[in-house]
Amino acid sequence: MAQEDVFKKIVSHCKEYGFVFPSSEIYDGLGAVYDYGQNGVELKNNIKQYWWKAMTMLHENIVGIDSAIFMHPTIWKASGHVDAFNDPLIDNRDSKKRYRADVLIEDQIAKYDEKIQKEVEKARKRFGDSFDEAKYMETSERVKETKEKRDNLHARYAEAMQGPDLEALKQIILDEEIVDPISGTKNWTDVRQFNLMFATEMGASADASMKVYLRPETAQGIFVNYLNVQKTGRMKIPFGIAQIGKAFRNEIVARQFIFRMREFEQMEMQFFVAPGTELEWFPKWKETRMKWHQALGFGAENYRFHDHEKLAHYANAATDIEFKMPFGFKEVEGIHSRTNFDLSQHEKFSGKSIKYFDPQTNESYTPYVIETSIGVDRMFLSIMCHAFEEEKLENGETRTVLKLPAALAPVKCAVMPLVKKDGLPEKAREIIDQLKFHFNCQYDEKDSIGKRYRRQDAIGTPYCVTVDHDTLTDGKVTLRFRDTMEQERVNISDLNSIIEDKVSIASLLKKLQ
Ligand code: GAP
Repeated sequence: MAQEDVFKKIVSHCKEYGFVFPSSEIYDGLGAVYDYGQNGVELKNNIKQYWWKAMTMLHENIVGIDSAIFMHPTIWKASGHVDAFNDPLIDNRDSKKRYRADVLIEDQIAKYDEKIQKEVEKARKRFGDSFDEAKYMETSERVKETKEKRDNLHARYAEAMQGPDLEALKQIILDEEIVDPISGTKNWTDVRQFNLMFATEMGASADASMKVYLRPETAQGIFVNYLNVQKTGRMKIPFGIAQIGKAFRNEIVARQFIFRMREFEQMEMQFFVAPGTELEWFPKWKETRMKWHQALGFGAENYRFHDHEKLAHYANAATDIEFKMPFGFKEVEGIHSRTNFDLSQHEKFSGKSIKYFDPQTNESYTPYVIETSIGVDRMFLSIMCHAFEEEKLENGETRTVLKLPAALAPVKCAVMPLVKKDGLPEKAREIIDQLKFHFNCQYDEKDSIGKRYRRQDAIGTPYCVTVDHDTLTDGKVTLRFRDTMEQERVNISDLNSIIEDKVSIASLLKKLQ
């Protein structure tokens, strides 16, 4: 099945099973805004717990905060967001649709990549086991020609984005003959800059009101509080501050479901280090964060680093952790060495000294910062994409199953009476009443047992417990495992110890040691 179709299925599965709903759906929705349903919120909370605990419990020198969404507007002047948090936009005069000029060009680069990949796959089939991909890439005229076009385009694009040079971006779109996917025409306007921050007014009367912004990242709340935390927590450098919270960006192009949203959630950690040591810490954080991702067991081949060649003026190293989504490798997390840019800017704009006093050297300095920044919603999407499977069974049927890591699954255990009579529902409730203090359980008595198993598979429940007539006499139940569909007869008294450890966040955290 084409990856596009797989993705469509994942999106509709998210809606059908209470994971993600379009916001304001009965009013025809609101672009790039989504609500999480009863299962989605559980999965999302588990992701956040996994991150939060990995940061604050596994590192003695990292603590958390929860800063307000509204902040003094000068913060965004100091951070550069008022002047430079822009995307280059372009309109098509025929369809009246708006696009990000950089995204149109990146899509064009991806088309060249796809073309090369198709050639490689065709050759692989033709040559079989003797196929040497590297040699083929070097010798195939067709591949060489496409690669040259691709590399030239990439070089022009990278140069145009410095600045950025808006005319150069438009010229690339014209030269590449990029057409609007809706109108099919090349009738483009000029490229213009568009600021992504949402603004609103704070204050009761028009005279006294102040323009404030919905924060476009949570990081600035950490920067402006770093000295409060350092002093009240008696933190010594190096130390980190973690935060999870909403961020808002007026994205021009809303695409790929919850991949690019206008209201989303970030999990950010700023790690404050002594000047000159930041490039020692940067690779350590790269490794720590990759380990966190890979502990989920999705396979190392589905992740890669994308080191930034061209750096923002305030950064001296930056990389993205990319995950293989059905629409290609995409950024899920950014790791940036941000120098002392943000803290210095806040010193300058606030006029207050926010230097760190080092008791060992008796010196004061502005710390340097390594930032790890991951989107909760993108993480959620990557997990759903990897977990979703339509599995062909031996009996010819297909089952839809979410192979979620047990610790992240919304429901850990479903308890089901085989029939709705003879005291079985009461026994099932009794079991839930024991287990519910330890993890999330669900009671289900409707429909055949096969249908109930399928319903639980579809939301990723790792364990199902079935109560039958024998249970009443032997105190045993059938425990069914989601991934293998194997069943085992176990004592009711053993259920908690069998399940609890495997579904706890601690089971994931232990893999990080
Ligand atoms: N403080 C640094 C910062 O905000 P970023 O690369 O702009 O860096 C970090 O964002 C992460 O936030 C991204 O890797 C992505 O996971 C998530 N993110 C950014 N924009 C998003 C959007 N519009 N929708 C969903 N997630 C987004």
